[in-house]
Amino acid sequence: MKSPYAVMRSDLEFWSVIKVIFKSVWFEFKGRVILFFLFASISGVLMTIAPKLLQEIIDGVIGGVFLNNSFWKLLLFYGVCLLGGELGSFISWQFSNFIATQVEDKWRYAALGHYYNLYLSWHDSRDSGSMGNKIEKGGSAIYAMMHELLGAQLLISLITLVFVVAYSFWLFPLIGLMIVVPIPIYVIITYFLSKKIAKGQARLNVLSELANKTLYDGMANVRSVKAFGKEIAETLNYARKWTAYHLFEYIVERWWFVQGFIQKIIEISMRTSVLAYCVYAVFNGSLTVGQVILIVSYQQMTFAPLQQLNQLFTRLKRQVKKTSRLFEIIAEDDKLKDVPDAVDVKELNKEILLDNISFEYSGKVDALHDINLKIPVGTTTALVGKSGAGKSTLALLLMRFYDPVQGRISFDGIEFKKIKRSSLRQQIAWIPQDTSLFNRSIKENIAYGSPEASMKEIIAAAKLAHAHEFILQTSKGYDSVIGERGVKLSGGQRQRIAIARALLIKPSVLILDESTSHLDSETEKAISESIRTLHHKTTQIIIAHRLSTILHADQIVLLDKGRVLAVGRHHDLLKNPVYKRLYELQFH
Ligand SMILES: Nc1ncnc2c1ncn2[C@@H]1O[C@H](COP(=O)(O)OP(=O)(O)OP(=O)(O)O)[C@@H](O)[C@H]1O
Ligand SMILES: [Mg+2]
Repeated sequence: MKSPYAVMRSDLEFWSVIKVIFKSVWFEFKGRVILFFLFASISGVLMTIAPKLLQEIIDGVIGGVFLNNSFWKLLLFYGVCLLGGELGSFISWQFSNFIATQVEDKWRYAALGHYYNLYLSWHDSRDSGSMGNKIEKGGSAIYAMMHELLGAQLLISLITLVFVVAYSFWLFPLIGLMIVVPIPIYVIITYFLSKKIAKGQARLNVLSELANKTLYDGMANVRSVKAFGKEIAETLNYARKWTAYHLFEYIVERWWFVQGFIQKIIEISMRTSVLAYCVYAVFNGSLTVGQVILIVSYQQMTFAPLQQLNQLFTRLKRQVKKTSRLFEIIAEDDKLKDVPDAVDVKELNKEILLDNISFEYSGKVDALHDINLKIPVGTTTALVGKSGAGKSTLALLLMRFYDPVQGRISFDGIEFKKIKRSSLRQQIAWIPQDTSLFNRSIKENIAYGSPEASMKEIIAAAKLAHAHEFILQTSKGYDSVIGERGVKLSGGQRQRIAIARALLIKPSVLILDESTSHLDSETEKAISESIRTLHHKTTQIIIAHRLSTILHADQIVLLDKGRVLAVGRHHDLLKNPVYKRLYELQFH
């Protein structure tokens, strides 16, 4: 069955957004929704009966009926109505609040889950700041929307409105008319103003995303900011964008005020004219004092729902706009998702084959061109070449972060596209060039891919990666928290943690994208030594910047401008002038 949290398009109309949200509410909380309506209706009816009872009590007292049986009954009934009304409203609020929080959370998680799943080139052209903002604002908007639509107040107001209008007409048609006539005026004015406000709101959302993008981008790069003395410049940069947001917010707020003020003018004129007419009618003898009190209190009860209904639309539009921004993430098609009959793979048994593959990033053609390569099990393949040759790109394709635009990659004869992503990544571990670690403890970072690993296994992996010693020297050892993206560690230490993390999942293929300068030659040698002694079946793909680490490799692939120039062992490749030059630059 299709998930109620899937959205196919992000450009949905107002009502379609509300429909999508309500579908998910109904799917998940049918029982609670029914109970909500039940209690809210009971409350609405009791609240409207109460003023009628008050009128009878007052008219009775004025008419001389006092402290008799029916008086006490009326008084008791009056109290019960008021109390019951409050209780019903409270209980229904509990239901609606529960539904609102739950629905908000489910949509937030659905969006975040989908965000993580989406293919890498989608992420490449988005920034996490504004995506986070979409989820944050969208989630809150869904909560607010639920409160508007499943608010006990709205339902109670509607019930009151119908009841009051009907009763006023029955009692005194002219008063009924006086109460009803302003309603369409309200609605029309609000309709036009709320359109304007909603447009302004859309612009406000864009402005706030722009400001947040600047904020997060600057904060994430605090070291560069400081290195270039840009502290004030970055603050001003953010201030400019945030001020633009706030200045525009003043304008939108002003529209809100204008709308509210016009509504008040209508309300006050209606109130005073009805009151004037009532006073006239009392002198006339056609209304009792009790009835006047009834009309006045009903009138008050009419304005609350009218105002609420009017503002409700404006607010709903604002919330729907924000919700659509969250939908933009959910509606994005995950181009690399598992096909329905995707299979699991076990350890590599034979080979990984790259068959005539080409790849281009959006806006960058020919990142890789016509690559044919066979990586037999248990061997070490080294990728070498100048900066920008396409080495890291090839590693990303082997992780299936991207699909080639042409050709196919297969794992023991099974095409990558037919393998479950999670299963493939259980077999292939990747140590990226620019290691990114979490601001969590060293232990958690190493166990990231295998959370069930025991402490013994974690330490063993750290020892293999030559990280154990320096970990023990940190203040809390394996429990030390390493700062955002691992800033409290040196580049080489970060990479060793990343190596331990990769080794712990016991991959059958290990891709090491050597960072250019992080390791000193001694540690580098020790690490390649321990990687070499890994399980004999571990297939290694090493992207080497220093040829000293890969002189022993079974095959060295020389890449240049996205093409394979030569493949062979070290002494064969020395015949190739490009390789020879790379080699000579490093050893002479
Ligand atoms: N996400 C991306 N979007 C667009 N172009 C990219 C992206 N990543 C890399 N490129 C481009 O693709 C080409 C190959 O880059 P790649 O990172 O594979 O080089 P490399 O061989 O690993 O270089 P280095 O030795 O500097 O790490 C480069 O020209 C680079 O600018
Ligand atoms: Mg690279």
